[in-house]
Amino acid sequence: MGAAFAHKIASRGLNVVLVARRVPVLEASAAGIRDTYGVEVRTVALDLSAPDAIWELVKATSGIEVGLFVFNAGADDTSCAFLDKPVDAHRSLMQRNCTAVMEAAYHFGAPMTARGHGAMVLVTSGAAWAGGAALSVYGATKAFELILAESLWAEWHDSGVHVLGLVLGRTDTPSLRRTLEIGSDTSPGELADPNDVAETALEHLADGPVWIHGSASPTGGSPLGSLSRRDAVLLMSRPRSARTG
Ligand SMILES: NC(=O)c1ccc[n+]([C@@H]2O[C@H](COP(=O)([O-])OP(=O)(O)OC[C@H]3O[C@@H](n4cnc5c(N)ncnc54)[C@H](OP(=O)(O)O)[C@@H]3O)[C@@H](O)[C@H]2O)c1
Repeated sequence: MGAAFAHKIASRGLNVVLVARRVPVLEASAAGIRDTYGVEVRTVALDLSAPDAIWELVKATSGIEVGLFVFNAGADDTSCAFLDKPVDAHRSLMQRNCTAVMEAAYHFGAPMTARGHGAMVLVTSGAAWAGGAALSVYGATKAFELILAESLWAEWHDSGVHVLGLVLGRTDTPSLRRTLEIGSDTSPGELADPNDVAETALEHLADGPVWIHGSASPTGGSPLGSLSRRDAVLLMSRPRSARTG
């Protein structure tokens, strides 16, 4: 998803900063973007689960006017029952999906509001709508991002800064393929295309606070809205293959 965002942003003539942990993947992606769009690309190899990650990112981007920030890294392709995972793994997920997102919004949002223009996309998930078995900490972090995006939109939209909580359904990424245990040669079926997701999100930056990709009502509320909380949780707890979106 992050690579798709980077390509769509660069295709608009904007320079990009790419963040991930694997240097070879970052560099290959950066080279492809430079060659295709002729924009400047900076790579920052960082583990966003590290407590000082956003401080490192702020230092690595000093001198750059960051006009659009997409916080995308956030999937959990090791989802399992709450007690089947070490507590440190839960803590690490919360650090990347909550603390780092909050700190990034704070440090990169402040100059945007001072300038009176900019945009921030927080990528969240249908797992934010209700709890469910094997979703526990992941779903809770995605709910955190959704509420944070809505709240920042409420505070910043009059100052010219767009905030979009981008809610994804099942999207054809390596992470999801690992979760579903399908190989790269298998037809993705009903999965969304990351390029379509990124393009749609960038077209709708001003339509926040929330954009639900693939929904008939993309600016609407939870698709589970009319269910009781118990029925919603039971639905979310069904095996992935029996769920949609
Ligand atoms: N795919 C879906 O079906 C789906 C559904 C709902 C919501 N979402 C949301 O969409 C977003 C993107 O998901 P995705 O499927 O593309 O998988 P992802 O695992 O979030 O994204 C993978 C990318 O993020 C980087 N990354 C992961 N952990 C990182 C860390 N600790 N520090 C720095 N970079 C890190 C990875 O590079 P490195 O491994 O090199 O670090 C890779 O480039 C997530 O927020 C996810 O919650 C996805």
